[in-house]
Amino acid sequence: MEVNDKVVIITGAASGIGAALGRACLTAGARAVIGADLRTAGMPQGCEARQCDVTREDQIVDLVRATESRHGRVDVFCSNAGVLTPGWDVREADFALWERDWRINVLSHAMAAKAVLPGMIERGEGYLLNTASAGGLLAAPETMIYTTTKHAAVGLAEFLAFTYRRYGIRVSALCPMGVRTPMLENLDATGASAGLDGVLSADEVAAAAIAGMREERFLIFPHPNVADYYLSKATRHDKWLKTMESLQAQFTDVGQP
Ligand SMILES: NC(=O)c1ccc[n+]([C@@H]2O[C@H](COP(=O)([O-])OP(=O)(O)OC[C@H]3O[C@@H](n4cnc5c(N)ncnc54)[C@H](O)[C@@H]3O)[C@@H](O)[C@H]2O)c1
Repeated sequence: MEVNDKVVIITGAASGIGAALGRACLTAGARAVIGADLRTAGMPQGCEARQCDVTREDQIVDLVRATESRHGRVDVFCSNAGVLTPGWDVREADFALWERDWRINVLSHAMAAKAVLPGMIERGEGYLLNTASAGGLLAAPETMIYTTTKHAAVGLAEFLAFTYRRYGIRVSALCPMGVRTPMLENLDATGASAGLDGVLSADEVAAAAIAGMREERFLIFPHPNVADYYLSKATRHDKWLKTMESLQAQFTDVGQP
């Protein structure tokens, strides 16, 4: 699918990858780019900025309905807003935080799909670009909630991809590793980002997303080494766990039983 002439909604568009996706879609000739975020400051010039909390289904529905009535349709919905809460010890789990992150990183993708799919199916075409993460395929140290929710995000995207494909709907899961955005600074504080094998700019990730959608690839890997890691994990999972154990040990000290 080409983004040219498309009506595109992007959540999390006030920062990092979302803002870069907005710029890339405008450069690629999108008819309209609607940026949605908790705040409108920081959205790229040329985006229609809209305040939206993606954990609220009523606000996602309003966003989609307002776009449909102003532009006639939604061609592409980029569910990109996300949060990373560092932490590794389930013994200290704060389940209110788990639920908040679950709503942002997973449920918002399902809510967006519920809101846009009827119109897309009626027209026989539409694209869902769901920003997951390499952490949705490969668990990463220090990121217990993120690893869990991003795996769920990939699972949901895969389910949507094979269920609605015959109605003309295409789905991609964008799976970057490290990207230099405010989110990564969260991880910098724990030291875990130092172990990342290659950090890209948000603009490089957005360019990979546009190319991936052009080829209608399900998994989009802006960092090519993620595909190699994924293959190596799938074929030698126990060996993979040993590698992860030594990485995680740099952050954890569970003490003696
Ligand atoms: N930065 C990385 O290293 C990296 C790597 C892989 C995947 N990702 C994913 O990319 C996506 C974008 O992350 P980023 O790095 O640009 O982070 P970021 O922190 O720069 O931007 C995230 C944006 O999401 C918005 N947001 C958060 N909660 C929201 C809510 N409830 N409603 C609406 N908007 C909300 C924030 O206001 C912010 O503008 C996320 O899904 C993230 O998990 C990031």
